[in-house]
Amino acid sequence: MTVTAIILAAGRGTRAGGEIPKQWQELAGQPVVAHSIAAFRRAGVGRIVLVLHPEDRARAAGLAEGVQIVPGGATRSQSVRNALESLVSDPPCHVLIHDGARPLVSARVVGRVRAALENGPAAAPAVPVTDALWRGEEGRVAGVVPRDGLWRAQTPQGFHFDAILAAYRAHPGEAADDVAIARAAGLDVTIVEGEEDNLKITLPADFARAARLVKEHAMDI
Ligand code: CTP
Ligand code: MG
Repeated sequence: MTVTAIILAAGRGTRAGGEIPKQWQELAGQPVVAHSIAAFRRAGVGRIVLVLHPEDRARAAGLAEGVQIVPGGATRSQSVRNALESLVSDPPCHVLIHDGARPLVSARVVGRVRAALENGPAAAPAVPVTDALWRGEEGRVAGVVPRDGLWRAQTPQGFHFDAILAAYRAHPGEAADDVAIARAAGLDVTIVEGEEDNLKITLPADFARAARLVKEHAMDI
């Protein structure tokens, strides 16, 4: 089965702040997104599409070897749509759609998603919610949300290419992630075991945690 990874790096990282978008900030001497690309290479994924903001093309010069560059859109969903349409002329069997801001994804997680795609059209990693969940209003607890059956979604979210392309074409609007678009098209999505360390750098404090984890993981290899 041919597989292509789509690595999303066209966001502006407004919540993370900093001089340059979060995926281009350095983590252990390399841009965040370089770690994401390396993770898919280690997991044996040969074909990689990197979705970039046009202003960031120069930043990608050092990473672009063997990577197909696609321009991003104004939203995450539009960036994914651009990447999927760029593959139509030479389509893979499976695609793995990954947030470039998750540099700690492991080959284990990538492998679990790929394995689940042998048995169904869609699969994505997640971790169970373990903390209690509250709804807050004006600094007070206004309600307690039952957490049974709740998961925190991660990426890569994997799909049979034809199925996710059709789902995106049928859903021109925005969605939080690719699974939401797959579900809207009626696809069955398998949950595979994610990892706590597969964090998405989102807020300023996430850089320090990611840097600690990169060091720890380097010691594991
Ligand atoms: N992304 C993208 N194109 C967009 C928006 C987001 O490729 N128009 C990518 C981001 O680069 C990131 C991933 O989608 O790797 C997840 O999005 P998020 O964490 O929300 O990143 P940003 O949108 O960049 O951050 P923020 O929402 O804080 O501005
Ligand atoms: Mg965003």
